[in-house]
Order: sequence, then structure tokens, then C-alpha cells
Amino acid sequence: MVSWLWLLQVSFLRIEQVACYDYAYSFTAKELKAYKQEVKELFYFGFDSYLEHGYPFDEVRPISCVPKKRNFEDLNDHVTNDILGNFTITLIDSLTTIAVLQDMPRFREAVRLVERTFPNGEFDVDSTVQVFETSIRVLGSLLSSHLYATDRTKAVYLGHEYDGSLLRLAQNMADRLLPAYLTYTGLPVPRINVKWKFNFPGFTDSLVTENNVAAMSCPMFEFTILSYLTGDSKYEKVTRYAFDKIWSLRTDLDLLPMSFHPEKLTPYTSMTGIGASIDSFFEYALKGAVLFDDAELMNVWNVAYESLKTNCRNDWLFANVLADTGQIFVPWIDSLSAFFPGLQVLAGDLDDAIAKHLLFLKIWNTFGGIPERWNFSPTEISPPLSPTEPLSVTLKAILPLEWYPLRPEFFESTYFLYRATKDPFYLNVGVHLLRDLKQRFKSKCGFAGFQNVITGELQDRMETFVLSETLKYLYLLFDEGNELHKSGSDVVFSTEAHPMWLPQEVRSKYKRDAKFSDSTYSSHLKTCYKRDRELQAKESTLSQRIVGFARSVFSQQPEEELANLTRNNKTNFEAPGLCPIMPRPRSDHDTWYSPLLSKYSRLFEIDSRYNATLIKPSHMQHYRAIELEPAFYSRWSNPQFSTCQIEPTTEIFELLFDLPGVHEQNPSIADNGTITYGAFGSRSRLKIEKLQIYQSDYYGDLVTASTFQDISRRDTYSHMCDTTADLYSSVFLYRVVAVNGRIVPRHGTVQIEKHNFMHVSTDIEEQGTLIIGGIGVNDQAQLMLECTPILNLLLI
Ligand SMILES: *[C@@H]1O[C@H](CO)[C@@H](O)[C@H](O)[C@H]1NC(C)=O
Ligand SMILES: *[C@@H]1O[C@H](CO)[C@@H](O)[C@H](O)[C@H]1NC(C)=O
Ligand SMILES: *[C@@H]1O[C@H](CO)[C@@H](O)[C@H](O)[C@H]1NC(C)=O
Ligand SMILES: *[C@@H]1O[C@H](CO)[C@@H](O)[C@H](O)[C@H]1NC(C)=O
Ligand SMILES: *[C@@H]1O[C@H](CO)[C@@H](O)[C@H](O)[C@H]1NC(C)=O
Repeated sequence: MVSWLWLLQVSFLRIEQVACYDYAYSFTAKELKAYKQEVKELFYFGFDSYLEHGYPFDEVRPISCVPKKRNFEDLNDHVTNDILGNFTITLIDSLTTIAVLQDMPRFREAVRLVERTFPNGEFDVDSTVQVFETSIRVLGSLLSSHLYATDRTKAVYLGHEYDGSLLRLAQNMADRLLPAYLTYTGLPVPRINVKWKFNFPGFTDSLVTENNVAAMSCPMFEFTILSYLTGDSKYEKVTRYAFDKIWSLRTDLDLLPMSFHPEKLTPYTSMTGIGASIDSFFEYALKGAVLFDDAELMNVWNVAYESLKTNCRNDWLFANVLADTGQIFVPWIDSLSAFFPGLQVLAGDLDDAIAKHLLFLKIWNTFGGIPERWNFSPTEISPPLSPTEPLSVTLKAILPLEWYPLRPEFFESTYFLYRATKDPFYLNVGVHLLRDLKQRFKSKCGFAGFQNVITGELQDRMETFVLSETLKYLYLLFDEGNELHKSGSDVVFSTEAHPMWLPQEVRSKYKRDAKFSDSTYSSHLKTCYKRDRELQAKESTLSQRIVGFARSVFSQQPEEELANLTRNNKTNFEAPGLCPIMPRPRSDHDTWYSPLLSKYSRLFEIDSRYNATLIKPSHMQHYRAIELEPAFYSRWSNPQFSTCQIEPTTEIFELLFDLPGVHEQNPSIADNGTITYGAFGSRSRLKIEKLQIYQSDYYGDLVTASTFQDISRRDTYSHMCDTTADLYSSVFLYRVVAVNGRIVPRHGTVQIEKHNFMHVSTDIEEQGTLIIGGIGVNDQAQLMLECTPILNLLLI
């Protein structure tokens, strides 16, 4: 079977493992029911406010209770007009939340309203909108609602009452968007006029130049589902061509610059990461692989994710790097990247998902939401932070984009982590998000997010994702028995949280009967493929990669702060513990504690590691960290568990290698913590810790004198370090703590097959250019960096 099944099984297995002691010691069924009821009420409050004060326009303004309309005066107001096409988008995007609530009467009513709003089954509106946003919000919701309405197993199955109107509307919209793909390259332009295509007064090139990776690749997902449901394969073929084309534009490091000119293919920026502009590319590679059972998409995901791990992944976040070099480019992460832990759950990478989600929790604890952009590195802020500045100035430097429009991504990954772990920790996060929605964001006619998290000022806007995603994921978090959670429901959520599934008969019918009869698109694709073949023929063979290594910027402590260790006699080790002091928990739940609260020794590491840029605005001063809420803490933490890992005081830096060949994606990991790499070519990134006596290391252990015994500094390879000098005079040693974003276990070793690595180096030498300077190997097979051994990096 294809490998995605395996992935699903991994996440599934975890669920099964805890299922046996599930309900009794978790939140009670009664509690869950009450919470889900509250979310349902909040949803209908928002939805009904829209119907009363917003419909038939696109949104309702939650504070002033009037419609938020498309900006008909200023067509270049892209922030508004890319999404608000004057086609009742809140109504359409909310349909599937009603379906998830399993509320038959309201679903029927809402579908009727859509039918009445578009009596001819046409989106005949003179609006220029974004192809991507319209695909995910309009097309996605209509397709998912159609699946619900026609699936006998679902509570909102409409049976004979429903004649396929939603699918027809979806197809009508798709036909209006698809001409965006008729470009020289086959990549879509970002915007199109729903009625006039490109042929309308006021059309300018600026509407269709820069387009980002997510926007150009992602319609593939919704359009392919449309193909399955209509039997017309043109939607799939045209959008899939663009997806594959985008992927072909990746750099040698398998990283994709975030945006391109769709006709010239020139990148607008060399930056890449997992956030805005590229986020759903990764999402749809994996989800497409799962939903369409597609091995090629699975391969795209595997290669792309491996490259993200190698180049972007750090302990608590994925950094934004340059696609050509993998060097960190900007010291911030964005709000949208909070979805990624949820995707990692689907990929089976649960441990890392837990870690990455935690950072967003700490951000929520600090700012009361997830600011659009958060700067994690105080040293990169200019002018530098100064304690004499007023708080608001400091915060403005930390939060270059300071709004939070109630985006769903943090809710989403909280939900997926709960499904995979069943740890009540995530339910508790949900309870607090629910409380915040009620107390901080609920306004007169809907939910108003933060215009400014620094001042706490609210925004008189409720984007459609609040009802379609934020509240949906929150409801599902509490709704244990939802039909989507039944085994065999095989559901995949679209990037707008619309549940998608493809019944077996639909799949086989599509495989058997699909047709591509539209000659405009078929000849267009033919031309594109032909041009690609000509280009390929011209391309020379692979260019030789640069070989060398570079220290990267991700060090924790500046060099000059190093202590004078030769003389340091300190025997009394008193590193600061990071555990907050909390009242002793009660012990009436002896069998089931929250694993995250009771076993995860790094739960509070982020608080100190990022304390310089996790600074609370004044309106948050009294907000208590979600995980430390006394009622929760005393109920779910294990009284026997009393320690948190000690903060590392060692210096940590990174080495980047670019070697010819490939590197192994899944090195073998032995029970004794040894990671063995066969192939170790192409880009690799090693995180190296500089061990000095009496420091606290990466794993929270004390570095003792024994670490420094029996160390050989004799270089058996390049003979650069011939010294057998006094071993005990050494002040520091190195240790590798992560390889390509994979954390080496405590006491773990990394083995690289010598043949591979050394062979490469020798080749280079023979060409007369020894580029790897400062690298050697000692007689204990340890790799040496500038004559200092890396204790646990062995060439075997
Ligand atoms: C926008 O939609 C409203 C409500 O359907 C309609 O009355 C109005 O004419 C539309 N405006 C434009 C410019 O299309
Ligand atoms: C280390 O300490 C000794 C004794 O205090 C001093 O002589 C030496 O200069 C110091 N070395 C450095 C690099 O600071
Ligand atoms: C270091 O410890 C030894 C043994 O306890 C002691 O004799 C010596 O004076 C100490 N040196 C310093 C610099 O404190
Ligand atoms: C962050 O923590 C360090 C070490 O505990 C402390 O010295 C520093 O003052 C803290 N910074 C802020 C902004 O709280
Ligand atoms: C750990 O296991 C690996 C693979 O089985 C082996 O090569 C290595 O020697 C072992 N290391 C130790 C320290 O036992």
C-alpha cells in the first residue's frame, strides 16, 4: 500500500493507545457537552448577526452592526476586494460549520438561502477577486456542503430535497476562475474578474503580476475534487500542471521562494518558510496525497518536508530562510504558520508537532492572540531594544505587524494535537480560547479580533474564517462523538476547514469515465508541456554544488560571554530551574495526568528562552498562562513530577555542509540513541554545542570533568592538529545536538559512514581545492572542528 496509509496509522495508533483509559479521567462527558454547546451558541450568534445585519453583502461589521461591503469606490483596495466579491461570502463559507454541528434544519435553511441568492445558479457579478481566496472559501465550501448534502451517512443528508445546486454553483465559479491559468507559463495570475475575465475598464497589469506559491499551487486541491464530482478532468489537469510547475521552480536545496511573476517566473523574493504565501502549498501536497491517493504528491511532501527540517527547523519554530542558501533571512514568524503543527500530526511527526504548538501557546499567553508577525530575536531588532523605552515602543519593534483577526490556525493545531494525543492539556487550551472569545472578542454583532494586540484595540471586521474555521475547530475539539471522528470517515480538512472526502464509487467512476473535452484548455496544456520538453532538452547537466561549511547565525550566546573556565573552580552547581512555583497539586487523579503537564520537562523553556520578546502588553498584565491556571494545574499535574529541565548555558551554533550527492531522509535510529547516516550528501545542518565544564548542557545536565577525559586531539586525516598536548588543559569540546532539525537523543551518537564522507573530501582535495578547512578526524573516529573533537559525531 502507499505510504500515507502508514502515516495515518501512526497517528491513529497513538489514539488507540490511550483510548482505553480515555473518558473516565479526562474531561467528563458532561463538561465536554457544555463546552460544545457554548461554541455552538457562539457560532449562531455570529451567523445570525450576519444574516440580520450583513446579508446580502459579504460580511457583517461586529461592532457597528452594518454590512462590510466590497469597496466599490477603490478597486485597488486589495485587502478588501480580493475576498469580498459581493457574493455573500460569509453565508457560503459558513455552510459547512452548520453541517459539522449536524444541525439539519439550519443546514437545509442555509442551503435554501444560497439557492435563493443565486436563482440562476450563476455568479454573474462584476467583481475582480483573488483566484486562491475564492477557491478556498467559495468553491471549497460549496463542494464540501455538496458532499454533506449527498452523503447518506451524514446527519445533514438532504436526499431528494437536494438537486445538486451547490455543485452546479461550484462549477460555475470554477469556470469563471479557470481562465486565470491561460498564461504563457500555465501558472495562474492572482486575480480575475468573475464576470468579464480580463476584459473590463480599469484593468491594469498590477492586478496580475506578483503571485505567491500558495496561491498558484493550491487551487489544485478544490479543483481536483470538482473534477471527481463532475467527471470533467480539465479542472484537475490545468491546476495540477501549475502545482507541478511551481514545484519545479525549487532551488537546489528543495526550497521554494515564496512568490513569483506568473509569466516571467522571476522570484519576487528569495525568502521561504512555512508561513504566509507558501503555507498551504505544503498542506495540499500532503492532503492531496492522502485524499487522491497520489504517490507523486506524497513525494513532493516528503522532499519538501525534509528540506524544511534541514534548513528551517529549530527547537521551537521553523525559521524564514533564503531559498538559495538556507541562511536565516528574517528573525520573525507569522501567525499563519501556527497551522503547521496540525499538518505535522497528519504526517506522523507528533513529537515535533507538540513542541512547535507550544510556542504559539506561549505567544497567546503573552499577547492574547497570535500577532500577524512576531520577532523572536531581540538582537536583530533595530534600533536595539532598550530598557528605557516605553513598553509600547518596545512592543512595536517586537511586533512589526500587530493585528490578530481571530485567525483559526492555533485553534486548528490544538484540535489536531488533541485528536492525536487525547491529552487534556489541549482541551484546557480550548477552554481558554473559548473563554477569550466570549470575554474579549464577542461584540454586539459578531466577533471582533485585535486591530492592535499592543493596545488591545478591536477591529470592526469579522472575516469569514471566524465562523468557517475558528469556531468549527473549537467545536470539533469538544465534540468527541462527531460523525467526522468515526473510523472510516476518511475526512481531510481543506485549508479553509471544509471537510472533504471522496466516496469509493466517486473515485472509481472518475478513474473510469473522466473526460477532458474542452479544447481551449487541452491545447493550452499541450503547448505548455511542449515548451517544457524543449527547455529540458536545452538544460545542461546538474551543476556542481559548492562544497564547504559555514557557521550560521542561530547561536544562543555571544562568544564574548564565555567564562574563564580553566580557572573556574565552582563545584556548587546552581543553575536556575525554569519551573514556576505552583501550589502542590491535589492527588485525587492517581491514574491519569496530562502528559504534557506531567512529563514534558521542557514545558517552560520557551518562557525563558524568548523572554526578551515575549513581553506582555499592559492589557495582558493579569492574564494567567493557560497551562498554569490553578484549577487545571492542580487537577492534571502529577505531584511526583517536580522538575523542569534546566536552561542550557552552553553556546550553540550551527554548521552547514553542502556536499555532493544526496542525504538520507530517514537515517536509522538504534535503541541506544545512535543515528546512522549512510548517504550524507547535499545540504546538511548540524547544531553543535560547545561544552564547557560546569555549564548546563542542551539536555539540562551538568557538564563535568569526566566529559573531558580521554580525548584525543590528534588529527589522523588532514594532520593539521598534530598536538598531543595536555588533554586536561582543554577548555571546551563540541557535541552535536541536532542533525537536519532532528534532535539527537540525550547520550546519543551520530554516525556517518566514512566511506561516503571522506571519499567526497578526498575527491575535492585531488582537484587541488581543499575547501573544507578546519575539519579533521581523530583516532577515535570523532570529527574534529578546528582541532576540537565533536564528541558524538563519528565517522565509521
Ligand atoms: C452587490 O450586491 C448587492 C446585493 O446583492 C446588490 O444589490 C448590488 O447591486 C451589488 N453591487 C454591485 C456593484 O454589483
Ligand atoms: C583566566 O583567569 C586567569 C586567572 O584569573 C587570568 O590570568 C587569565 O588571563 C584569564 N584568561 C582569560 C582569557 O580571561
Ligand atoms: C580550587 O579548588 C582547589 C581544591 O578545592 C583549591 O585548593 C583551590 O584553591 C581552588 N582554586 C580557586 C581559584 O578557587
Ligand atoms: C530574561 O531572562 C534572563 C535570565 O533569566 C534575565 O537576565 C533577563 O533580565 C530576562 N529578560 C527580560 C526582558 O525579562
Ligand atoms: C549503538 O547501536 C549502533 C547500531 O546498532 C552501534 O553501531 C553502536 O556501536 C552502538 N553504540 C553503543 C555506544 O553501544
